Order: sequence, then structure tokens, then C-alpha cells
Amino acid sequence: MNMHEILSSSSMAFSSSSWSSTSLFLILQLLCSGNLYANGCYTSIFSFGDSLADTGNLKQLASITNRVFPVLLPPYGETFYNQSIGRCSNGRLIIDFLAESLGFPLIPPYVNDKGSDNVVEFRHGVNFAVAGATALNSSFLEPRGVLNTMTNASLQVQLSWFKQSLRSICGNASDCRNLIGRSLFLMGEIGGNDYNYPILAGKPVSEIEPFVPFVIDAIVSAVNELIEMGVQTLVVPGNLPIGCSSAYLTVCGSEKEEYDNTTGCLIRLNKFAEYHNELLQTKLNQIRELHPDVVIIYADYYNAALQIYRSPEKFGFINGGLQACCGGVGPYNCDSSAECGSTNASVCDQPDTYVSWDGIHLTEAAYRLISKNLFQGPYTTPRFNSLCPTLTSQVKDKLSTSM
Ligand SMILES: *[C@@H]1O[C@H](CO)[C@@H](O)[C@H](O)[C@H]1NC(C)=O
Ligand SMILES: *[C@@H]1O[C@H](CO)[C@@H](O)[C@H](O)[C@H]1NC(C)=O
Ligand SMILES: *[C@@H]1O[C@H](CO)[C@@H](O)[C@H](O)[C@H]1NC(C)=O
Ligand SMILES: *[C@@H]1O[C@H](CO)[C@@H](O)[C@H](O)[C@H]1NC(C)=O
Ligand SMILES: *[C@@H]1O[C@H](CO)[C@@H](O)[C@H](O)[C@H]1NC(C)=O
Ligand SMILES: *[C@@H]1O[C@H](CO)[C@@H](O)[C@H](O)[C@H]1NC(C)=O
Repeated sequence: MNMHEILSSSSMAFSSSSWSSTSLFLILQLLCSGNLYANGCYTSIFSFGDSLADTGNLKQLASITNRVFPVLLPPYGETFYNQSIGRCSNGRLIIDFLAESLGFPLIPPYVNDKGSDNVVEFRHGVNFAVAGATALNSSFLEPRGVLNTMTNASLQVQLSWFKQSLRSICGNASDCRNLIGRSLFLMGEIGGNDYNYPILAGKPVSEIEPFVPFVIDAIVSAVNELIEMGVQTLVVPGNLPIGCSSAYLTVCGSEKEEYDNTTGCLIRLNKFAEYHNELLQTKLNQIRELHPDVVIIYADYYNAALQIYRSPEKFGFINGGLQACCGGVGPYNCDSSAECGSTNASVCDQPDTYVSWDGIHLTEAAYRLISKNLFQGPYTTPRFNSLCPTLTSQVKDKLSTSM
């Protein structure tokens, strides 16, 4: 049963009985917070972001425009899905593990063959994330020499898709506010590509550092817009330790660079990611003060991943943390003339023993461990697994005081 069906069947009950609308509302709240959903807390997941969360949008967009991207070809997806289904990994992503752990089916992409009017398919949420997407739109990036050759579906575009699709997902304004308030919103990771495109194309990091406050502003405005629409629970991830990425190690590594001797990662690039993350957290704290009723969960992708890079073998990554499973030659198996998904690339036999899948994206095994660190462990603020019971008891408290 989805929210739509609950509301329409209850409104029939309402018209044929003498229940007051107040008690009907309370009963609806009880229904929604009780055992109706496997997790008892959230009715659905809405997601915005880039290739770290895309579950098929770029694939659909590419088929509409007849474009081909290596990330959409085999061996992507082969370990878990047996086919490339538009995920930038060999299998499941963090959003897939999150959905599984909350008892939801996998979150479908917004762009699909059936059009966006697919209420049944969207009842547990929709994913607006697009591989290659930036937080800033092209009107900011292009004048600064940054060309996004994959997609123009930046964060603002994804938000506009969300607003356009609301009507078909939840009907009228009050039903939508109800659904939005009971859903989990995953805002990112987004912003990584605003740095990846220029830095991996050879631009000096010092030239890109001034982008950071603008990227954070784009994320923060999206968060604020969602809060204005009635969102109550957001997960906002930070950037990964990009200095540990095989692609960054290949492009930016040199004898002059400093390497962290506990991980082999590039110190300067990791400091850059930390700068982004610190600014993001400062801004999230400001939003928390303004909206104490909204739950804003910072997801520390950086430290959840860094823990793996510090001792990969301990977690079964016997090939170490820094070499890509799929790609070319060189110290990190990474080389632009043999991108994973292209005919020149080779792929390892046991992806589960690697952290890096293709140089930029991680393997399903790494995403699984990061998800565990985040959603069952200490790497979200506040802790994710402390929230669900709280939300449920808040509703129960409200019920007992007003009855
Ligand atoms: C919204 O739609 C529901 C049925 O889904 C109905 O019960 C409710 O009265 C409607 N609310 C408004 C404000 O139109
Ligand atoms: C992939 O193939 C294997 C072996 O045929 C099968 O057991 C598994 O269910 C398939 N996975 C999916 C997601 O279809
Ligand atoms: C680009 O971003 C700016 C600032 O976030 C916004 O004002 C503008 O409307 C956006 N343009 C497009 C085309 O989305
Ligand atoms: C984005 O790209 C598509 C296809 O290339 C194009 O049809 C669309 O107009 C573009 N949208 C914007 C906002 O530039
Ligand atoms: C690693 O580097 C630190 C300084 O950054 C140094 O104190 C330490 O001895 C080094 N450890 C090893 C094993 O080289
Ligand atoms: C494949 O490798 C050859 C030789 O290194 C190179 O010339 C060619 O451009 C590569 N093809 C692609 C698609 O990268």
C-alpha cells in the first residue's frame, strides 16, 4: 500500500463514518509510523547526486540522445546484476545498500521508458542522481573553462525534475507534504565532479580551490529548498578521500607530491576533500540551528572510506586499496587510453579484493563496507541507527498526549 492508497481508502472511511478529521489524521500517522513499512520510519527515499548514486538515469538519457559512455558498458554491473544497468560499479552502490537495509526495493531512476507518471514504481522513492552531474550548473563552470561532456543535469536540474514529478507521485499539495515529511532525502554525494573534470584534465588544484564555497552554496541552497517544501530528514554526504583514488594518483602523483605513509594517498588532494567537507559541515550546522525540527545527517564518506585505505587487507582487499580492478596498466592500473568499459581495458578476476573498481568509482565490496560504516557504524552525525526509534516514539508521544 502506498501513501496514495492509504489516503484514498481512509477518505472513503471518513465520508461514510462520523470520525473527526483530527482523529483520522492521528490514525494515519499511526499507520505510517507503525509496521506498515519494513523500516517503520521512512515511506520512501528520494536521491540527488552523481555517479556515486545514479541507478540508471545517465543510461536512459544516453539512449534518448544516442550517446555511448564506457561506464554504461560491460563489465560494469556484472558482478551483481550480470549486466551493465547504469551503475558506475561492478554491482550495488551505497544507495542500494541503504534501500536494502531499510527494507525497500532498489530505488528506480527518474528517467525511464515508462515516463515519469509511474506512481506505482515510484512509491518507495525516486532517484534523480545522474552520473557525471555537477553541483554547479554550466553557467558557472563553462566561463571558468570547465566542460561537462557527460550531462547537463546539474543539481538545480535534478531539483526541478523532483518538483515536476511530485504531482504524479503524490497528487495534491497536502498529500505531497505528508509524503515529503516522511521520506528520507539523500542529497549527494554531489560536487565531486565540479573538481574531477578540471583537476583530472590537468588544471592545478590551487585554481579549483576557489570553487569550493560555490559548490557548498549550491548544495546548501538545494537543502534549504527541500526544507521549505517540508522535508524532515536529509542525509548529506561529503566528498570521498580523492587523494586515494587511482585516477588522481595517476594524474596528480609525482616525485614532488607528498604521500601519506599510512595509506599511500596524496596528501594535498585529501586535504582538498577535507576542506570541502569542513565547509559543508559548517553550513549544515547553520541550517540545523535555523531548523531544529529538521534532521540533517552528515554522512562522512571521507572517513568511512579512509578507514579502509588504512588497512585494506584487514577487510579482505588483498590487492591493496589503490589499484583499480578494471582499466589499464601503470602502478594504479589506470590509464586514459584504456578506460574501464572500453575495448582496451582489462578487468581483474576478483573485484571483491579491490577497493577501486575503475579508478574513480569503488567496487561493490568497498561500497558495502562503507555503507556498513555509515548506517550501522559511527560515520554519520547524528548516528543513523539512533534516529529511527526516536522518530517513531516522537509520533507515539504526540498520539498519547492528544488522545
Ligand atoms: C488530497 O487528496 C486526498 C486523496 O488522496 C483527499 O483525501 C484530500 O482531501 C485532498 N486534500 C486536498 C487539500 O485537496
Ligand atoms: C546473476 O546470475 C547468477 C547466476 O546465473 C544468478 O544466480 C543471479 O541471481 C543473477 N543476478 C541477478 C541480479 O539477476
Ligand atoms: C544556475 O545556478 C544559479 C545559481 O545556483 C541559478 O541562479 C541559475 O538559475 C541556474 N541556471 C540554470 C540554467 O539552471
Ligand atoms: C541538456 O541537454 C539536452 C540534450 O543534450 C538538451 O536537450 C537540453 O536542452 C539541455 N538542457 C539544458 C538546461 O541545457
Ligand atoms: C610517516 O610519516 C610521519 C610524518 O609524517 C613520520 O613521523 C613517521 O615516522 C612515518 N612512518 C613511517 C613508517 O615511515
Ligand atoms: C587503445 O590503445 C591504443 C594503443 O595504446 C590507443 O592508440 C587507442 O587510442 C586506445 N583506444 C581507446 C578507445 O582508448
